[in-house]
Parts: sequence; structure tokens; C-alpha cells
Amino acid sequence: MSTLLQELEQLQQEAETTLAQTATTEASEAWYREYLGRSGKLTALLRGLGQLSKEERPSAGQVANRVKTTLEAALQSHQEAIKQAEIARALSAEAVDVTLPGRPQVVGKLHPTTLTMREIVNICVQMGFQVYDSPEVETDEYNFGLLNFLPGHPAREMQDTFFTTNPDVILRTHTSPGQIHAMRQFAPEPIRVILPGKCFRNEDVTARAEMMFYQVEGLVVGRNVTFSDLKGVLLNFANQMYGEGRSIRFRKAYFPFTEPSVEVDVDCILCGAKGCRVCKYSGWLEILGAGMVHPVVLKNGGYDPAEFSGFAWGMGIERQAMLKRSIDDIRYFYDNDARFLARVG
Ligand code: PHE
Repeated sequence: MSTLLQELEQLQQEAETTLAQTATTEASEAWYREYLGRSGKLTALLRGLGQLSKEERPSAGQVANRVKTTLEAALQSHQEAIKQAEIARALSAEAVDVTLPGRPQVVGKLHPTTLTMREIVNICVQMGFQVYDSPEVETDEYNFGLLNFLPGHPAREMQDTFFTTNPDVILRTHTSPGQIHAMRQFAPEPIRVILPGKCFRNEDVTARAEMMFYQVEGLVVGRNVTFSDLKGVLLNFANQMYGEGRSIRFRKAYFPFTEPSVEVDVDCILCGAKGCRVCKYSGWLEILGAGMVHPVVLKNGGYDPAEFSGFAWGMGIERQAMLKRSIDDIRYFYDNDARFLARVG
């Protein structure tokens, strides 16, 4: 009897010592199997109960039960402690310092060309213009012939063209062929449209010239459309785009599809027309080409030039962006340099 009780006592002590040494949930489960499990040490001892006398059995059984519940309770509280320690360890390993400043999110924004195109479109829409879409790929006839470029005329050389293996398909060199598309769609109704889009020229790429660039064409056709209408629209455009109080001036120019033709300057926004590097000390900045629609072009578009007249202009979008946003090299636009794109709003 006393040996069994002693053994139980010893077992309890040993079990408590080893339990204290288990540091993980797995180790504590192994401990359970070793001491309290079906083939564990306590079960083995309890088998000895059967050999005791009837009188001894109840008190020995009591002691055995107490050892068992004591160990079970010890296990439970030790496992709880392990779990807390594990949580504490994980928390400190994955600790987030909420006082650190956040990392800035890089947010995309509209490209300077898109921004400028939208400004131009908004100004023109307020003057009653509609946006008309026309193709970037054209036939030679639309890009040149119908616009009154005569075959072999040196005016073609102003626009060095990208041809394709299909002799009839070229990349448009300006948005002016859209004039013919619009006129042929709307004749004999009056027209007030703008045509924004990409153009392509086989240029040597320099600070002032890209092979791909954007233009916005404007076209007005109707009865009694005069040169003063052209002037009023462009003066209003210059004031909206470059600030109230702007003046514009016309210089004579030549385009096959307008007569008369002009180049239009705005007084230099950077120096207030006093003369600076950007305006080359002239006080003026060229912003676009314009003119009265040539009678041949009106006819090609389906309008009788005896009854109808019109005016048109074409402006480079990057050029407007460069003037307005002080950008000195057109190559920045399509270089994909994020620093430029971030700087220019
Ligand atoms: N298409 C001409 C160019 O690209 C610009 C222009 C358009 C001139 C309309 C007059 C009228 O140079």
C-alpha cells in the first residue's frame, strides 16, 4: 500500500516537473500521453490498485483520483500559459509600428497631352463646336488630293509622309483630311466641328518635332461665314486658353486648302510681349495655322462655294501644352519619364 502511494506521490512530482519544462503545445500533448494517456504512467500505476486489499483500495483510489485531477488541472493551466506565450511571441514578431509615417501611394494622372486636349476641347465646346472623330490612317487622296494639294506640288514636302506597303494607305500627316470626312457627312448642312487626334510625320526628332503628335482641327462651314468670324473665334480661344487680355496677330501664310491662309500668334504669355528667350525676343508665340476654306475644298466636300464659305484652323496640342506649361522639349511627352509626367500637371 505505502509503496503504491509513494509511487503515486513520486509520479505526481515528476509529472509536475516535466510539465513545467514543456514550452510548446505539442510538447504538452506528448506530456499528456506520457503521464495521463491510456498507455501512460498513471494508468500503469492504477493497474496496481487491483492487488490491494479491500480496505486499502478506497483510500488509494482517492489518492490516485486526486493525482489525476491535479495533473489534469495543471496541464490545462500550463497549456493556457503556453498559448498566451505563443500569442505574445507572434504579436511581437508581427508587430506593426502604427506611428511610422505611411508610404506614399503613387497615383497615376492624366497625360499632359490629354489634359491640354481636354482644355482645348472644352473651350471649343463652349463656343458651340462638336467633336468629330476621323481616322488616323488615310488615303493619299484624303490627306492631300482632296485638300487641293496638286500632284508634285512642293507643299507636300512640308509634310514628310509615312507610307505603307499598300500604296493607297498612309498615316495622316495632319487632321485636315477630317475636314473632307465631316463635310461629306454633313453637306449641305452648316458645320461647326473640331477634330482632335494623332498625326504622323517622318521628322528628324528634335526638341521641336516628334514623329507622332496631336492636332486639333477646327472647321466652320455655312452661309456668310467670314474672316472676322475666324478672327473672333481664335481671339476668344486665345483668351480662354492663355488668359484674359491676350492679343493675337495674323501673318500671311500658305496652305493649299485655305485661301487666304494665315499663321496666328498670341502675345507672349511668359514675358508679357516684352521679349524673352521663349518668344525669341519677338513678343509673339505662334500657336496655329488657319484660313478660309479653299473653294476647291468646299466643292470636294459637297458644298457649292458660290453659296457657302468656311474657315478652318489646325493647332498642335503639344505646342499649346509647351507654351502653357513651360516645357522646352517636345521629346519629354512620349519618353515615359515618370518624373516629367509627375511634374507637369
Ligand atoms: N493642316 C495644317 C498643318 O498641319 C494646319 C492648318 C489646318 C492650316 C487648317 C490651315 C487650316 O500644318
